Amino acid sequence: MKLKSASCQIAYWEGGKLRIANYLTRREFSASPVTLEVIRFFFTPRTIQDALSEFRSYSQKSVAKAILQLIDAQLLLEYGSAEQERDELVGSSWAPWLPEGGFHFMTKDTPYVPGDWPIEEKLKTLPATPAPPQFKKILGDGAVRLPSHEIPRDTFFETLHARRTHREFARGKVSLDNVSKLLQTTWGVQGYFETDVFGKLPYKTSPSGGARHPGEVYLMALRVAGLERGMYHYHARDNRLVRLPVKVSPRRASEYCADQLYFAGAAALFIMTAVFARTMWKYGRARAYRVVLLETGHLCQTFCLTATRLGLAPFSTAALKDSLIEKDLGLNGISESVLYVAGVGLLAGGPRESVTAGN
Ligand SMILES: Cc1cc2nc3c(=O)[nH]c(=O)nc-3n(C[C@H](O)[C@H](O)[C@H](O)COP(=O)(O)O)c2cc1C
Repeated sequence: MKLKSASCQIAYWEGGKLRIANYLTRREFSASPVTLEVIRFFFTPRTIQDALSEFRSYSQKSVAKAILQLIDAQLLLEYGSAEQERDELVGSSWAPWLPEGGFHFMTKDTPYVPGDWPIEEKLKTLPATPAPPQFKKILGDGAVRLPSHEIPRDTFFETLHARRTHREFARGKVSLDNVSKLLQTTWGVQGYFETDVFGKLPYKTSPSGGARHPGEVYLMALRVAGLERGMYHYHARDNRLVRLPVKVSPRRASEYCADQLYFAGAAALFIMTAVFARTMWKYGRARAYRVVLLETGHLCQTFCLTATRLGLAPFSTAALKDSLIEKDLGLNGISESVLYVAGVGLLAGGPRESVTAGN
């Protein structure tokens, strides 16, 4: 059996200790700097026997121990195994954005403080120091008092001011018409424009760096009148839903959202992913990863405002079980990965009138 060093690894110093992490599998361990020599040796696939003869000046026992530790930490992978191929795929397909892009993989599936924890337990997760001030105040004579704070009576401003994150929903169904409006307004194609270099590019309601539009959306329909409960992919160009063979349930919805129970009451989830290559192909620097995240924020805000204008109860969450969602959706989590989830239900207190007031 041959071993190969993981390409998805990063080393750094922490309090005088060398830490080596596999950012794809999120395994980390402390090592002595000489371990780096072993890792370098295995960048060419080799056997343990090869390593024992290469590192003859060290005792066989210590070399074998280091190798076993590296295997355990998933920094050495069995050459040709599924894990090693996955590692290689990240290394090759994400090459333009690495190593900085390792952040994406390292921060997946983060733990979330459960909502039903007692307040004392939640407080223990916070630093002992007071929270930083919420507002920045610059002292000086140059202050200019601004005119009135009154909200203009116009649906645009009223919708902006009415948007809130909802965590309680009425039991009824959301109409397919409204789901369709949400999809089309947020992710649909408004039209196309011609470019010299890049051909025909789509316009959407949200801006996108280079009009690359890396975002995709999947609908988990739980209570949508006129649509069978299920998981669907939204085809933006054709404005069409395609059913996927994925089991859905309120419990699964909550699981996706890191077990936040309130989202089990939602009528539909809108799972936002990105196809990174669309952006990476044009923008070969890691900063473009930020662009993808920023754009997902634009989409989510458009979604929340549209839902508010439709009199629905929207929410968004970044606390996700990314890997579980990706497994269900049949995504490899490398070329396309989950970034954000939004959802809607019916307003818990019944329909609201304020957002439809105005002109
Ligand atoms: C990126 C992002 C992630 C969020 N994640 C969660 C979440 O996991 N659970 C939750 O209940 N709310 C989540 N929220 C909603 C915030 O808690 C909410 O926006 C905040 O409390 C302010 O309330 P408002 O949205 O009603 O103005 C998230 C908001 C944003 C922008």
